[in-house]
Parts: sequence; C-alpha cells; structure tokens
Amino acid sequence: EKPLLEKMPPDQEQALTRDIEAEFERLKPSAASEDRRRKFLDKLSRILNEEWPGHDTKVHAFGSTENHLCMNDSDVDVCITTKCKAIESTCKLAAALEKRGMERIVCVPGAKVPIVKIWDPEYQVACDMNVNSTLALDNTRMIKTYVEIDERVRPLALVIKHWTKQRVLNNAAIGGTLSSYTWICMILNFLQTREPPVLPSLHMLPHKKKPPNAGVDISFADDIETLRGWGRDNKETLGELLFAFFKKYGHDLDYEKNVISVRAGNLLSKEEKGWQFLQNNRLCVEEPFNTGRNLGNTADDCSMRGIHLEFRRAHKILAEKGHLAECCEQYEFP
Ligand code: GTP
Ligand code: MG
Repeated sequence: EKPLLEKMPPDQEQALTRDIEAEFERLKPSAASEDRRRKFLDKLSRILNEEWPGHDTKVHAFGSTENHLCMNDSDVDVCITTKCKAIESTCKLAAALEKRGMERIVCVPGAKVPIVKIWDPEYQVACDMNVNSTLALDNTRMIKTYVEIDERVRPLALVIKHWTKQRVLNNAAIGGTLSSYTWICMILNFLQTREPPVLPSLHMLPHKKKPPNAGVDISFADDIETLRGWGRDNKETLGELLFAFFKKYGHDLDYEKNVISVRAGNLLSKEEKGWQFLQNNRLCVEEPFNTGRNLGNTADDCSMRGIHLEFRRAHKILAEKGHLAECCEQYEFP
C-alpha cells in the first residue's frame, strides 16, 4: 500500500480552497429562501395567537435556521413556548394547523420530545415543531457561537454537510446514519483539536453561570465580541482543513477507544465515560449538554463501516486529484 499523503501538494490545495469557497457561495441560502422562512415563522405565530389568544405564545426558530448552517432545502425547526395546555397537546395543535391550510401533517405525540411535522404550501417550507422543549435553543446558541468565532467554520461546515447529504450519510431517523447535529459536533471537535486549535471549548472557557434549563446546565462562554478571532494562530486554509478532516476520521481516529467531546474540546476515552459496553457505540459523540447521551448511537456497526469507507473515499479523491465535485458526487445506489 502507498503511504498516506499527509498534506496535499500546494497548487492542488490552493485549487481546492477556491473550489470550497465557490461551493460555499452556491450552498448559502438565497435571500428569497431566507425570506420565505421569516414569513412562515410570522404566519405560524399569527395562527397560534389567533387560535388561542392570551397565552403569551411565542415561536422560536432553532437548528440551521438560526445557527448559520442553513441550506436552501433545510427544514425550519421551531420551538413554541406557551402557557396554553391545548397547544401542548400536539394533536390539537396539529388539527388547528390543518384547519389553517398546512399540509402533510404528522403528529408524534409519544416521542421523548413530542413533535408535529408540517409542510406549508404557501411558503414552501417543511417544519418540525415542539412545544416548550427549549433545550434545543441552547444547543443552537452554542453552535451559532462556534460558527461566529472563526470565518472558516461556516464554509467548511456547509461543504461537509453538503457532502453528507450527497453521500446519503445524513439521516439518523430512517437511514441509520447521523443527524446534522451529530455531524456538526464532529466538525467542531475536529477544529478544536487542530494544532494550534481553530476553536476553543466554550464550556471550558471562564463564563457566567446561567440557571439550569430542565435540570441541565446550559452555561458556556457566549460573548462573541471577546471570542471572535480566537483561532487566528492557526493559519490552515479551507483546503487543508477539509483534507485533514477526511484524513482524521478516515484513518487517524481510534474509534475503538475514543469519545468525541465538544464540551471538553478534546477526545475522551470510552473507559473514562463508562461507554465501553453501550449499544451502537462504535462511534461515540458526547451530547455537549446531556453528557450521558451518545449522539453516535443512531449508526450501528454496519452503518459505521459504510461511513468510515466514505471518509476514506473522500480522502483518497482529495489526495489523488483534489476534486471537490467528485468528492461530493451523489451516491448511486447499486
Ligand atoms: P438541517 O435541518 O439538516 O439543515 O440541520 P439542523 O442544524 O437544523 O439539524 P437538525 O434538523 O438535525 O436538528 C435541529 C436541531 O435540533 C439541532 O440544532 C439541535 O438543536 C437539535 N437536535 C437535533 N438532534 C438532537 C439530539 O439528538 N439531541 C439534542 N439535544 N438536540 C438535538
Ligand atoms: Mg433542521
């Protein structure tokens, strides 16, 4: 076997960096798509306050709508906060939304976080909504802060997210692969563990304590004005970082031993977390707030083998030709 390429040749690396920048411009949501999301959110708020007036009901977007990692086809994730018991019963909420013209309504009342899924034909957006589960707003605030610290994070993360969708590696619920949230944690931890690091651990930096949310500690350093530019000692280009990302997860990481921890800003061991015998623990990604949860457990061993081969495929293409388009080619089912 040929020895692994540690770095790309400089001209190839510069071309890849330009390709990533161009792809990022293409992937960024258009003003029109941002506008549709905003209008949808206003309309949802109007509907809820007309159907059930006087309950201080508010609509908060989270997920990619708020964390700067939105693509044109991303869904809108919504948390409704309200004192109204009828809205809390997701089935009544679903019925009211149907009456007001929403389509493809799916109500999942029994889930850990009950949700309603809808499609708005007017603004052409899909939406997942929960009621009064505000923890997702806090993890969204964390991701948003990380993205704002260094200007390389957004293009790198969007291009990798695009790759995960093209290669069918981004479906935790049905596909047995990983959610966008899990992928983002893997990207952030990769950037935290560069030498020198591109990102800090926001949980480890000094910060003011906030009161817990549903028993969970939600405080971390979030003053973006003092954090911006934290990673400037790291001079790596987008091309170098993307290449190193695939190399790390395709060849260097010891999946047998390690736990990816954004909270620690480092790798932990399965032993120290007591995660040696969990189910589906081939890939361990610690949820940064509920640290007992493994976000990687949506992928079983077989699916992880597939994901691992995809990292290696991407690394090989970049090592040999450096072509981003080939790396992100749509997966063809056999
Ligand atoms: P796209 O919809 O693919 O553009 O990405 P997204 O960033 O919106 O991710 P996704 O729709 O998978 O999840 C939306 C949000 O839900 C995330 O930003 C998290 O705030 C939250 N979330 C998703 N999965 C989990 C999970 O397993 N645990 C927790 N605590 N929150 C999650
Ligand atoms: Mg989403």
